[in-house]
Amino acid sequence: MTIRPRRSVLYMPGSNARALEKARTLPADALILDLEDAVAPDMKETARTQVAAAIAEGGYGPRELIVRINGLATPWGEADLEAAAKAAPDAILVPKVSSAEDVAVIGRKLAALDCPGSVKIWVMMETPLAMLNAGAIASAAASEDGKRLACFVMGTNDLAKETRARLVPGRLPMAGWLSTCVAAARAYGLDIVDGVYNDFNNLEGFAAECAEGRDFGMDGKTLIHPKQVEPCNEAFSPAESEVEWAKKIIAAFDLAENRGKGAITVEGRMVELLHAEMARRTVAIAEAIAARG
Ligand code: COA
Ligand code: MG
Repeated sequence: MTIRPRRSVLYMPGSNARALEKARTLPADALILDLEDAVAPDMKETARTQVAAAIAEGGYGPRELIVRINGLATPWGEADLEAAAKAAPDAILVPKVSSAEDVAVIGRKLAALDCPGSVKIWVMMETPLAMLNAGAIASAAASEDGKRLACFVMGTNDLAKETRARLVPGRLPMAGWLSTCVAAARAYGLDIVDGVYNDFNNLEGFAAECAEGRDFGMDGKTLIHPKQVEPCNEAFSPAESEVEWAKKIIAAFDLAENRGKGAITVEGRMVELLHAEMARRTVAIAEAIAARG
């Protein structure tokens, strides 16, 4: 079981050289070098060149690098995809995906470009159709053309725009979509990260939304500003008490007297084998986080 922590996933405009530089020192698990929404039309080419150069130069350590391209229907999409395939980051993030075929198209193009298999596909879940087709989109991961698919990224700003649902504290208007996307992702073994919190100076509201995303089952959250990174890491790391409890469950099932049992009692509570599985994941993710230093 190899687990990559994806607690904090920081966007930055590919046109912003200072941000690309600063990201080398920020404690984010992953970085999205953006060519799409954060870049103005007359800066698209500059951003593409600058992002490719930053990846080639390296220095990002354990941080996962993801390039968000413009959609293939835009004047920049094809050139972005070619440049990204050549730069070979950890993943290419595709905006406005609405069907399994949208994923397959990218997979076939990457294969035709001889892009290394290590380059995964991440998709923005941000259109009304994507909410209706979430399961089908995730199922692309089980097909030959879509096998690079690894992660869903909730695009809550675009979703709010397209559906007219409002972004309110607690996100009740979006709750159904968020949990549908979590279920779709898990059904096909994908990771999923939550949408951004725009009011980046409001750290209290941000912490609440991180906790909410965690409770929905998200692996982490996309971020827009460096000050969001540390509180986000905190929110999506298993608490020490959780790790301790997980270790107790594992140890209890390992006892000779409990071999072959499906349900046992630990400190007065019923735990089942499924809890031991959850506990092993909790310990593995805590270890992967600790290994990042
Ligand atoms: N990634 C990396 N570094 C960032 C950053 C980011 N997303 N946002 C800001 N920084 C850096 C700044 O360059 C600045 O560096 P320095 O002072 O060490 O030189 C420092 O962090 C503080 O930035 P600050 O002055 O508070 O913010 P700003 O006014 O420069 O920028 C935003 C504010 C919102 C424009 C900027 O944070 C941003 O572009 N965020 C990402 C937006 C995005 O990618 N959106 C697309 C997906 S929703
Ligand atoms: Mg968008």
